[in-house]
Amino acid sequence: MALNYIGSKLSLLDFIENVVGYAIDEKIDVVGDLFAGTGAVGKLFKAKGCKIVSNDIQHYSYVMNKKHIGICAPLSFSGLVSELPGLEAAEDKTSFVLDHLNNSTALYSGFIVENYSEAGTRGKKHTRLYFSDENALLIDTIRQRIETWAVDRKITEDEYYYLLATLLEAADRVANTASVYAAFLKVLKAPATKRLELRQDEIIPSNRTHKIFNDDIRNILNREPIDLLYLDPPYNGRQYDTNYHLLETISRYDNPEITGKTGLRKSKDQKSDFCRKRTVKQAFAQVVLHTQAKYILVSYNNEGLMSLSDVVEILTLRGTPKTYLRQYKRFRADKSENRNYKAAATDEFLHVVRCDRSFKRYSEEKRVSW
Ligand SMILES: C[S@@+](CC[C@H](N)C(=O)[O-])C[C@H]1O[C@@H](n2cnc3c(N)ncnc32)[C@H](O)[C@@H]1O
Repeated sequence: MALNYIGSKLSLLDFIENVVGYAIDEKIDVVGDLFAGTGAVGKLFKAKGCKIVSNDIQHYSYVMNKKHIGICAPLSFSGLVSELPGLEAAEDKTSFVLDHLNNSTALYSGFIVENYSEAGTRGKKHTRLYFSDENALLIDTIRQRIETWAVDRKITEDEYYYLLATLLEAADRVANTASVYAAFLKVLKAPATKRLELRQDEIIPSNRTHKIFNDDIRNILNREPIDLLYLDPPYNGRQYDTNYHLLETISRYDNPEITGKTGLRKSKDQKSDFCRKRTVKQAFAQVVLHTQAKYILVSYNNEGLMSLSDVVEILTLRGTPKTYLRQYKRFRADKSENRNYKAAATDEFLHVVRCDRSFKRYSEEKRVSW
């Protein structure tokens, strides 16, 4: 179950697969997906038998990747047998545990009810309607239950991340937003009135040990050896910490200080240099110059903070990039009187470079110290 996520590459996986097949003739064993988001690209290469090194600065993304990339075999939930009668005999243990959580009867209010539901915020400075009262209560209840099971060592690390990511995906389906969490709707939309439901997902089998990190890309770039470094940075100034602040809070469940009408997290720790015109080129160049990967593959479109020539120029520091284009037809409401729809195209680029030139050589020539 994938999140509805800005910049998700779910619909471009065939393009990525074709370009890698066409442009790289060496065997790729380890793929780094270090702006991983939903993990869509990591999943593609995991299914092909590669080892995945995954990373994202956002905690909810880390949790999603711990589930979709990190877990490689069915879960047994054996530590819950004494707590959940019927589990031992159940054929499908995961489905049994999800049903149990979906049918929670003892309900516990918490941070989500108190700050993001109408019942919890009525009469306060800001009334918020991010979730129906029922769903906010279910999110708090299930979130607390998962944490208690983990603290009591009744679930394994894999089971913990599976349940938490499944809760994030379920919460996202019933969120009362137009798409992102930077604003909520004034009236509950139809999907937000439905009861939250944890749904079971297939686990991609794999016999590799994948690595998942939650950090700024520049801190973990060479933590693991990588053959193909896939870079899918944010394209524009819309920070993911603002757009997905509620997923971050459900994921961390850290009772953060929050602010304003929409209850944003106050901390600025996750603001990304890749979302600022002033810093993006240097940040991107730092990654490109310092990686020890054999190949770099970059996704970027023609509406990003960096121009096509910026991206190509920076990649050229390491070798000769090849650029591939997929044109995306998007439909926008036409403001003209007859209200026809007018097509607008976005250019989605993939750039591949074999890293032949080293940072050492470049820095000696140019006398830079990035
Ligand atoms: C375009 S999205 C990636 C989408 C992903 N490929 C997918 O298919 O779901 C960009 C991601 O980069 C992450 N990000 C932004 N700045 C970062 C940084 N400095 N280090 C690591 N990740 C960062 C964001 O949280 C976001 O998930």
